[in-house]
Amino acid sequence: MFLHDRGGRRYPIRLVAGGTFSMHGGNIPHDDLIGRPEGTVVETHLGRKLLALRPTFAEQVVERRRRAQPIYPKDLGAILVHADLGPGASIVEAGTGTGALAIAAWRAVGPSGLVRSYEIREDFLEAARHAVVEVLGAIPPNLELRLGDAYQDLGERERDRVLLDLPEPWRALGWAGSAVRPGGVIFAHCPNATQVQRFCDALREIGGFGLIETVEVLERPWTVRGRSLRPAHRMVAHTGFLTFARRLAGPGVFETEDEGF
Ligand SMILES: C[S@@+](CC[C@H](N)C(=O)[O-])C[C@H]1O[C@@H](n2cnc3c(N)ncnc32)[C@H](O)[C@@H]1O
Repeated sequence: MFLHDRGGRRYPIRLVAGGTFSMHGGNIPHDDLIGRPEGTVVETHLGRKLLALRPTFAEQVVERRRRAQPIYPKDLGAILVHADLGPGASIVEAGTGTGALAIAAWRAVGPSGLVRSYEIREDFLEAARHAVVEVLGAIPPNLELRLGDAYQDLGERERDRVLLDLPEPWRALGWAGSAVRPGGVIFAHCPNATQVQRFCDALREIGGFGLIETVEVLERPWTVRGRSLRPAHRMVAHTGFLTFARRLAGPGVFETEDEGF
């Protein structure tokens, strides 16, 4: 459960009978919330109003304490659509990081799909397992979190989609290129433009890819309150570039003359 205050802050709370939530604005007995519906507004003993809601997946991604940098919700949405992650798809991902993209992909492919995610660091993999349990309640059998080095051949074949969020995604193209089936999508998330350039150059050098596209998603929140109708003062300016390409049935590169999308 999250408690939202009027200043836009969110406080995570795990409800326990007899427990007390404390903040600078006062205390709330957990029992005031237990058994009450989501969307309830409660008051601290000092009169501060708080709204109780279960967190959305996007809130869980940005609020989680983590060591790896997750893919942000604005980018997750775009990846789901542009990489066309849908029910029944078979997906390979590297690296797992916080598990944010793995979970988003799993939600998209549903029970008939498969998400297999590789991570080089055991501690990160363990943290991702915890994140999956926190969000989904358990680790589903078709969400496989594996220890592995994505710069080595992972032996993956005939996958519908390959998702890369690695410091040097071009180094994974040896296996990733042959892991994605003809018509399938390969995707890379790169924080820096130099990484994007190197990844796109590598796709062209290796060949067998078409419709190579890179986008950046800018999400600008607005204030819509009374007479105040304007962009918010702050926004998440830059997260990463999203590069997508389709696997061809044969060698070479197929590119359009103008940008796609
Ligand atoms: C930016 S994070 C990925 C974040 C992830 N997409 C998410 O949504 O949370 C990059 C991850 O790649 C992992 N990594 C780096 N090199 C790797 C390799 N050779 N093989 C597998 N994982 C690797 C890092 O340990 C890190 O967890």
